[in-house]
Amino acid sequence: MRFDRRGVAMLATLISVLACSPADEPPPTGHHLPADHRAGAPGIGDPDFPTDGNGGYDVSHYDLAIDYTPTTKRLEGVTTIHAGATQELTSFNLDLAGLTVREVSVDGAPATFTRKGDELTVRPPQAIDGNTPFTVKVTYSGLPKPATNNANLGTYGFIPTSDGAFVASEPNGSKTWFPNNDHPSDKATFDFAITVPAGVTALANGELAGQPTTAGGKTTYRWRERHPMATYLATATLGKFELRRGNTAAGIANLAAADPKFKASLNGLYTASAEITDYWSTVFGPYPFSSTGGVVDDYSAGYALENQTKPLYGGFDPGETIIAHELAHQWFGNSLTIRRWKDLWLNEGFATYAEWLWSEHKGKKTAESFFTDFHQRPADDPMWKYPPGRAKPDDLFNQSVYTRGGMTLHALRKAIGDATFFTLLKTWAAEHRYGHVTTEQFVDLAERLSGKDLNGLFDAWLFQPRRPA
Ligand code: TRP
Ligand code: ZN
Repeated sequence: MRFDRRGVAMLATLISVLACSPADEPPPTGHHLPADHRAGAPGIGDPDFPTDGNGGYDVSHYDLAIDYTPTTKRLEGVTTIHAGATQELTSFNLDLAGLTVREVSVDGAPATFTRKGDELTVRPPQAIDGNTPFTVKVTYSGLPKPATNNANLGTYGFIPTSDGAFVASEPNGSKTWFPNNDHPSDKATFDFAITVPAGVTALANGELAGQPTTAGGKTTYRWRERHPMATYLATATLGKFELRRGNTAAGIANLAAADPKFKASLNGLYTASAEITDYWSTVFGPYPFSSTGGVVDDYSAGYALENQTKPLYGGFDPGETIIAHELAHQWFGNSLTIRRWKDLWLNEGFATYAEWLWSEHKGKKTAESFFTDFHQRPADDPMWKYPPGRAKPDDLFNQSVYTRGGMTLHALRKAIGDATFFTLLKTWAAEHRYGHVTTEQFVDLAERLSGKDLNGLFDAWLFQPRRPA
């Protein structure tokens, strides 16, 4: 049936090609052949990041096979993408930065492809019907190069280290190591098969699918993330690691890993990750994934990233505050994922507020005290000029998105009271578990649960370029 419809589509393509073919007669001046509306768009439709992600399909699953050699820094990869077409597709794009593509096939048939910038355009031998599942397999290799294209993001993506790689891809660095639909509005499940020289450990998202196997001096690690994941949260962090595994008190699998240079951090990371995962489960509702933990690598990023199930800490001994932040993201950012980058405060404001909640929980500084201290900053502090509800593409991770985003939640808590506020956090996490969210949805839910008109509050805190009263 699917084959039949495709046959018809192919015939239609052939006829239209023949009909439109200019042959020896050029089209009259001023006449433009219409762009092929059956080509998938080169961007998924985030106006702030027009070429991130792609149109015309939705990925359901990534199968990543990666072979990486730290000494040569060479990566050999095969990515198999299971997707569903959302329109008829004569061609479609994937995002991929650098690397050399050797071969592409669609549903097992060789496809032609072109590269331009970070876009890989795939043209299957016959058009893909709208509303149809398809599989694309990309065989590629090369020396991955991290992204550095945004002033305040530093280096991100696949970052080679002396013993492996540090892989932190937010917001759009996953294209530096595998071809994909690189935008959070398209989440998918992941399987990883990562081959490294024996003695090197490969740490990806989710849980190990069987014991690593070693043959010919190489070890293959298979990891599986069975919950939907945004591409920026995918990791394949490689190197020498000390590991500690077990379960949290509440019974969630916990894996801590530390580069030998950060061996002293391993037990603290393990213990704090367990305690904090369990505590957030009581505050935000059930932990959304099948395991928790964290990875400390010796790359001096100076930052951490909330990689799904395995936050990554770059070159420092993580304290409870940052662990609380990254683990709060497992709910806010990872389970509930933004549809567009301008809503980033839904990730970073919540994770920052979680830092204050953790401090309050530990009997240290209260959230109210954090709020008051920040609120006292002078009217000309840059934070007041930057409305956190509209994260700017050239300054996405501005401190305002974090701090003023967190303050927004505290102002809300004071306006609706603790009982409603904490019900709101749990309801928010439950209603959109594994899904996508926008700021408008959060405002609506807050109003629904509180029965209050909160437009003035959210407008002042999220959207005005001045200090709220
Ligand atoms: N989301 C990270 C945090 O606040 C920060 C971050 C932004 C980041 N972009 C990144 C980390 C790129 C690593 C790579 O926890
Ligand atoms: Zn964060």
